[in-house]
Amino acid sequence: MEQNLVFATNNEHKLSEVREIAGDSFRVLSLKDIGCFDDIPETADTLEGNALLKARHVKQKYGCDCFADDTGLEISALHNAPGVYSARYAGEAKDAKANMRKVLYELQNQTDRSARFRTVIALIIGEKEYLLEGIIEGTIIEEARGGGGFGYDPIFVPRGYTNTFAELGADVKNTISHRAEAIKKLKQLIDAKQEI
Ligand code: IMP
Repeated sequence: MEQNLVFATNNEHKLSEVREIAGDSFRVLSLKDIGCFDDIPETADTLEGNALLKARHVKQKYGCDCFADDTGLEISALHNAPGVYSARYAGEAKDAKANMRKVLYELQNQTDRSARFRTVIALIIGEKEYLLEGIIEGTIIEEARGGGGFGYDPIFVPRGYTNTFAELGADVKNTISHRAEAIKKLKQLIDAKQEI
């Protein structure tokens, strides 16, 4: 039987990315598909906590097998900040340019510019909960470069590359990214369950 999974996000970009990676392994439904227009709280202080909050909300209220993700940029010299607060690092406006300016300001004169994007996916199937993680290591450069992507992409260069995520383009980014890694693990888990 085909596994249906609700993805607890309102982000169309993430939905299409996940559908592309999922292929025929499972069917990804959106919150709209199940009539959910709730403002799901993200009030935990860890990525794991927020991903679980979102997935449990959908499971408890709608009874569907589902998953949710949460992502943060973790900068070594800033003790892994902004982390779970990445979207609001420079304030409630969630302004990507202001967030990047703040990161570059905080890293002034820092020699250690290593950082990683970390995505956590919380998956709930039946009564079981799973946490899956995807990480991409890289460095924060000194000035934003590139027009693609979103969020912190213009200041993040993945390890092994010289261009930022914003310069590399969606095809490359979606093959190597933190989110892609986490979603690939989700697909492997679903495929393994379906073989049993
Ligand atoms: P979310 O949990 O996926 O919504 O991500 C939280 C915040 O992390 C976003 O608002 C962005 O600032 C940042 N972020 C998440 N994923 C990416 C990415 O792939 N590139 C750049 N920034 C990202």
